Amino acid sequence: MARIRAEFRGEDKVAYLAARGQSRTTSVSRRLEERRRNSPAKRQTALQYAANCQQPKRPMKTPPRLQPLLDDGLIDEVIHPLMSGKEASVYVVRCGREIRCAKVYKEVHKRSFKKAAQYQEGRKVRNSRRARAMEKGSKFGRQQQEDTWQNAEVDALFKLAKAGVRVPEPYGCFDGVLLMELVTTEDGDVAPRLNDVILTEEQALEDHAVVMQYIVRMLCAGLIHGDLSEFNILVDDYGPVIIDLPQAVDAAANNNARRMLERDVNKMRDYYSQFAPQLLQTQYAKEIWALYEDGELHPDTELTGNFVESDEAADVDTVMDEIRAVLEEQRAREERRKEE
Ligand SMILES: Nc1ncnc2c1ncn2[C@@H]1O[C@H](COP(=O)(O)OP(=O)(O)OP(=O)(O)O)[C@@H](O)[C@H]1O
Ligand SMILES: [Mg+2]
Repeated sequence: MARIRAEFRGEDKVAYLAARGQSRTTSVSRRLEERRRNSPAKRQTALQYAANCQQPKRPMKTPPRLQPLLDDGLIDEVIHPLMSGKEASVYVVRCGREIRCAKVYKEVHKRSFKKAAQYQEGRKVRNSRRARAMEKGSKFGRQQQEDTWQNAEVDALFKLAKAGVRVPEPYGCFDGVLLMELVTTEDGDVAPRLNDVILTEEQALEDHAVVMQYIVRMLCAGLIHGDLSEFNILVDDYGPVIIDLPQAVDAAANNNARRMLERDVNKMRDYYSQFAPQLLQTQYAKEIWALYEDGELHPDTELTGNFVESDEAADVDTVMDEIRAVLEEQRAREERRKEE
């Protein structure tokens, strides 16, 4: 059946339809395989983007943070700004014949990400001098912290691309600027965010399943996104693409890992459920975490969305009863001692 996606653009919400022949009955893994893009097609899209681009009459003034990359020949032209978010400004740039995306991180004091420490817990800093400086909070330490933060996203992108999660292809992080693939639709437009598209029930179920599979693959690669939302997923003709990973959490070393995974999974459930309300009944967060803890989670685990609470709850009750009994005994003993 053709894949039809209606997209809202801008405030007037003019919908347009894009149709693609794609079977919906294949398993998630096969669909993921089918979605692997090949480079000639991508190059085509980039050229298409350049052709679609309304080039300003005069070239854009170079943002100072991009100048070193221009000087070093890493980019050839800044085409236009794309988006300015809480933590970064994103530009469309040209590198040779390719159109790419440059994410310029804001400096630490301008960022609004308040709970950085919570996310960074467990991140390994290999160089011990650097680790000590970061702990002390000296100027050198702050710079090291900044570098670690900026490199976390490019590291996560390389790791996840290898793990079979659809993310923009990374090209590297230079002077606090992440160069990566610009995710576009087949028409050559910048891909919209999940928040900006409307889905049929069938598409919502399909894309939700794909995102769950990506979350599983991330976890198998040792990472939790940590800020997954309809604003940090782009949707191209092949489905969801995960973006915005500087806060990715080390699953094994972070005490908040379980809570963050649950938050990411449940946010996805709540978002897609507006198109497919039956998703509200699912328990993917508990299912994924239980499999992970038992060492039974694999990149291609077929999830069910069901989770049966184990007898552990009953065991907790038994332990609580025992604690209460001991406390009661102690209280009684003290009463007796007072009376003596
Ligand atoms: N590779 C990409 N291809 C196309 N568009 C992108 C790409 N990366 C980012 N964008 C666009 O830029 C926006 C901001 O990017 P991103 O979420 O990574 O940065 P951010 O500063 O953390 O944003 P926010 O704080 O708003 O979440 C995205 O919502 C998306 O619209
Ligand atoms: Mg974002």
